Amino acid sequence: MRPTEQIYSDYTTEDFHVWKTLYDRQMPLLKQYACQAHLKAVDTVEFNGERIPNFENIKSILAPLTGWSIHVVPCISPAREFFGFLSRKQFTATCWVRTMAQLDYIEEPDMFHDVFAHIPLISDPSYCRFLEGLGALALEHADDEEALEMIGRFYWFTIEFGLIRENGGLKIYGAGIMSSSGETKHCMGPDCIRKDYDIREIINTPYRNDIIQDTYYIVESFDQLYHSLDDVRALMAARSEKSISIPGNK
Ligand SMILES: [Fe+2]
Repeated sequence: MRPTEQIYSDYTTEDFHVWKTLYDRQMPLLKQYACQAHLKAVDTVEFNGERIPNFENIKSILAPLTGWSIHVVPCISPAREFFGFLSRKQFTATCWVRTMAQLDYIEEPDMFHDVFAHIPLISDPSYCRFLEGLGALALEHADDEEALEMIGRFYWFTIEFGLIRENGGLKIYGAGIMSSSGETKHCMGPDCIRKDYDIREIINTPYRNDIIQDTYYIVESFDQLYHSLDDVRALMAARSEKSISIPGNK
């Protein structure tokens, strides 16, 4: 059974060793490839390789900055529940650490992904404004599986695997990239497609969560993400109207 609360004294020597190994491997890469907002945020949340982050400490840092908090979950949450937490300014995160044998690949997210990769930007108000809005948008379609699937793609290609233009170059803000050294190098290399942000294409593009991605979308800013929520909302509304007005068209 995975833990449903963080009991700091339960972390083992291997847990600390895994955290330090991953942290020390990933941070030099992120210093080269991550967006400035993320690197600043890593300092804000006081992450380092010596200590597995303490959730109480993170909560006390986030609260005055963005009003967000962490909600511990044992494993990945169903979409409806997950988006509900986002709409209430709570980021769901696991508190267990993968083993040394799982260093390079793990099927389900552990706290190196959920916390190391996601939590720093939860201290950034403009990023959080988008995340909260995304949660609210998903809840508007809570009973529509197909709509939730589309909004899930929107989350996937932005929060998990998004790239951002910065000072004329490309940087990473997606957490799915941040927690993987292989994907960090891959998304900047020649063997993938990098496209300008296109919400219509994104919500109509299925993805696989068990492979390194082949396509990444580039945004100009977190504000662009936030403002695009209205466009996504309009696309979802147009889709609903279409399925109502054309009998048999789902
Ligand atoms: Fe994630």
